[in-house]
Amino acid sequence: MSEFGVVVRRRRMCRSFRSDPVDREVLDGLVDLASRSPSAGKAQGWHLVVLEGPDTDRFWRHAFPPERRTGFRWPGLFAAPVIALALVDPQAYVERYGEADKITTGLGTGAEAWPTPYWTVDGSMAVMTLLHAAEDHGLGALFFAVFRGAEEVRRELSIPGHLQLLGAIALGWPDGGEAAAGRSASRVRRDAAAIIHRGGW
Ligand SMILES: Cc1cc2nc3c(=O)[nH]c(=O)nc-3n(C[C@H](O)[C@H](O)[C@H](O)COP(=O)(O)O)c2cc1C
Repeated sequence: MSEFGVVVRRRRMCRSFRSDPVDREVLDGLVDLASRSPSAGKAQGWHLVVLEGPDTDRFWRHAFPPERRTGFRWPGLFAAPVIALALVDPQAYVERYGEADKITTGLGTGAEAWPTPYWTVDGSMAVMTLLHAAEDHGLGALFFAVFRGAEEVRRELSIPGHLQLLGAIALGWPDGGEAAAGRSASRVRRDAAAIIHRGGW
């Protein structure tokens, strides 16, 4: 199997970390790889708001306040030395598709005109590349939803209102202490035969 295949098969979400920092050059290298992901019209409307070390508490105190952590299955998640919030910018796509070479698409009139939100597609592809890059580097990562405290997190970090929050990425060196697998981990992985509809639905 190619190295790529090895990395893809090995990657699992990591929910327990050592607190040792991740060098900024390492993170920059992962993001450089992620920036090579496909992007509609090469609009590249995605951003990461990054918190490091003790600053990660500025995220956790809203998203998962200490008083709610009793009994939480993955206490090692809070040790992650990096929290990166993945954000996408619909306006960047509307503006790009309003340019001369894209104007005939009609997508330059506003976000409502888009049958598929390419900002979400692009941001997701970039996050996936980032997760694989992290795995390739021996780092652990978890992409997770920000269900609780999203408004407070946005205010805390001065995130402009027009940006959509895709989710958060916890990143760091795995501590191997993950006692419990994710609740979804035991679900059977769909194989190619279940996914492919040859010749139509
Ligand atoms: C959009 C999205 C949201 C997710 N949200 C969470 C989450 O809130 N908490 C969590 O522990 N895992 C979350 N996950 C991780 C999934 O549970 C995980 O990817 C899935 O069970 C497959 O496991 P694997 O990625 O380790 O192969 C999320 C994954 C995706 C793609």
